[in-house]
Amino acid sequence: MPPRDNRGGGRSGRRPQRPARDDARSRPRPGDRSGRPQDRPREREAEAGLSREARERLDALRADFAADPDRDTPEGDRDTHSDVPGGVRLQKVLAAAGVGSRRYCEELIADGRVEVNGQVVRRFGARVDPATSEIRVDGQRVVTASDLVYFALNKPRKVVSTMHDPEGRRSLADLVDRPERLFHVGRLDYDTEGLILLTNDGELAHRLAHPSYEVLKTYLADVPGPVTRKTEHRLRDGVELEDGLVRIDGFRVVDRLGDRAMVEVTLHEGRKHIVRRLLAEVGHPVSRLARIQVGPIALGTLKAGTMRALTSKEVSDLYSAVGL
Ligand code: URA
Repeated sequence: MPPRDNRGGGRSGRRPQRPARDDARSRPRPGDRSGRPQDRPREREAEAGLSREARERLDALRADFAADPDRDTPEGDRDTHSDVPGGVRLQKVLAAAGVGSRRYCEELIADGRVEVNGQVVRRFGARVDPATSEIRVDGQRVVTASDLVYFALNKPRKVVSTMHDPEGRRSLADLVDRPERLFHVGRLDYDTEGLILLTNDGELAHRLAHPSYEVLKTYLADVPGPVTRKTEHRLRDGVELEDGLVRIDGFRVVDRLGDRAMVEVTLHEGRKHIVRRLLAEVGHPVSRLARIQVGPIALGTLKAGTMRALTSKEVSDLYSAVGL
């Protein structure tokens, strides 16, 4: 079944969150503490596009940093962030994590939108450890640890949702070509296709799979039609199954195709075969089922059997979805 939802996207195969090394070329020369881009043509060019106010603000910040990088900020935000010895400059870490260009990240810092370990840092040049510092932009976590990886996989039918199958059937391991030990977030039935998230971030994986965080999942199902308004109301009111009530979070008929219908169901729980059992109970047994969204992550146009790295924005959104 072709996925109908084109939200999301991203570049396949690209590994996100990998901060570049703090290489000698970008370090200020000895004696140059201004941080001015006069010997860096690309940054000079980038700054030429700034408004006069923005340029003045950047210049003032740079002058402050040159005078005393450890001073308090004028607005009363006490920046007590201590540099991590041998750490990497904050704007560089943010840019490497995919937040935006280095210039944009400097703007974020200047605007007081960046926190390191719970502390607003407005100071340019603060040095952080990408592996251990907890960095947030506008309160949203930015994952900077280079060893953490996050992927969306489009599981085809006839694949088991484990990394190994004792019966020798195709498993997720046959689709994943990564050196890391990855966890799959939740499972899909052998015959269900669609989105599975994979990561080696244990805390995130645990929370995404835990029912108490109520992460929404959306499925597309091919069922016999027509689906009446009465059925829709029944679904919205909650349906009693043998292991308890199912409450859905969303339902709509996406398409009517002759005597078939394509329906979209959103729910936050993960009981076994829940969508198939739910729709069968209201008289619409599923012949084909695909998961097209998990929390903020959409399957989009990802080809069956392939995976793509999540963008840093998507990872931040996942963190927010589970209160991290
Ligand atoms: N509900 C189902 O019935 N099957 C799945 O694979 C996922 C949700």
